Amino acid sequence: VGSEMCIRDRLYNMAKQLWNKGFEPDRQIEDFTVGADRELDLRLAAYDVEGSKAHIKMLTKIGLLTQDELDRLLPALDEIAATIARGEFRIDDGVEDVHSQVELMLTERLGDIGKKIHSGRSRNDQVLVDLKLFFRDELKHIAEAVNRLFVRLQYLSEQHSDKLMPGYTHLQVAMPSSFGLWFGAYAESLTDDMQMVLAAYRIANQNPLGSAAGYGSSFPLDREMTTELLGFDRPHYNVVAAQMSRGKTERAVASAIAAVASTLGHLAMDVCMWMCNNFGFVSFPDELTTGSSIMPHKKNPDVFEIMRGKCNRLQSLPNELTILTANLPLGYNRDLQLMKDIMFPATTELIECLDMADFMLSHINVRDYILDDSRYDYIFTVEDVNRLVVAGVPFRDAYRQVGMAVQNKTYNPTREVSHTHTGSIGNLANDRIAAKMNEILAEIR
Ligand code: ARG
Repeated sequence: VGSEMCIRDRLYNMAKQLWNKGFEPDRQIEDFTVGADRELDLRLAAYDVEGSKAHIKMLTKIGLLTQDELDRLLPALDEIAATIARGEFRIDDGVEDVHSQVELMLTERLGDIGKKIHSGRSRNDQVLVDLKLFFRDELKHIAEAVNRLFVRLQYLSEQHSDKLMPGYTHLQVAMPSSFGLWFGAYAESLTDDMQMVLAAYRIANQNPLGSAAGYGSSFPLDREMTTELLGFDRPHYNVVAAQMSRGKTERAVASAIAAVASTLGHLAMDVCMWMCNNFGFVSFPDELTTGSSIMPHKKNPDVFEIMRGKCNRLQSLPNELTILTANLPLGYNRDLQLMKDIMFPATTELIECLDMADFMLSHINVRDYILDDSRYDYIFTVEDVNRLVVAGVPFRDAYRQVGMAVQNKTYNPTREVSHTHTGSIGNLANDRIAAKMNEILAEIR
């Protein structure tokens, strides 16, 4: 294959491959190993520049770069950052990844000084630091999107707190519930998922820079300084542990995403069901529903079906990562690169689902007086048993009395619902749930 390459191609590759040592790489091998990186790495570009800036400031402090060199490198990096911010940054054909592209651009602009920035660093800790900064931001965005939906759900919970609906167990009518409880339940459930988001955030918020290829460096790298500059909580101290965090961080983020997706997918299923004509508990304006090509009457919940499907797929993320990284030997292995293919689209997809749920719920119509329908009569049996208990009848006797009435078809519900304890229909505790959410959010910001 090498002989088919023209001289120009060979020179081109020799200039653009960081690890080039004078022989030309096979194009097929390069394409196969680079995979989707040239596209995916664009999302890391801004973080790569940020990491490089911190690294070279540190190199200057320990005497591996002069102040003069730093003064020339920093503006050049800022220029690259501006190119990235304008959306004009590209990873050229023949350049392996974002790390190579940034170094190449610096070298093109500044010559030999550009070649100095990689001292005491490997692409292994470079990609790690990029990923940590990236996931830290993505988790912030996820937390913000979760919170937007949370606020919407809490608002709806309060707005519809007095509208009763059937509660089901075994998908059989069970006890009175309310839209206040239903909306509020998903809000509180999201606070549990946010604990997972916070845990992932804490794991991501540690500095791997300085671990180099995964075994440190003979240069006296000041890792505390880069930790401070990049705003990490602390370093990932042990250089091997730092390298091990590639995979571990992704699995933590994936678990957080899967947790949120599980709640959201559940909500989407409920909406599909409540929208079913046999229930008819909720509806949406026509323009938010979808039609059928043959049945003229259809108003379908496609949005929530797509959401349910996406959320179900997102729940396979931890599994996918576990299988991808199972039994990898200690230290860097190129397999790790493939985690980007899995994780990068996932964070975006989750945020899109959360925002779509928020948008749809901002237009939801809720039916009132659902429980007046006689098909829900038995939903009041426990209320009536409890009423007898309050009047002095032992619970088991009261239970039998109401049970016999149901059996003999003489049961006549009183239809009065008065639940007052914490977290029940009449006492939703939404303020305390909001406090729980805010406590977590304060740690992610
Ligand atoms: N694209 C690579 C990745 O994501 C960058 C690190 C390459 N390191 C190496 N030793 N080949 O893993």
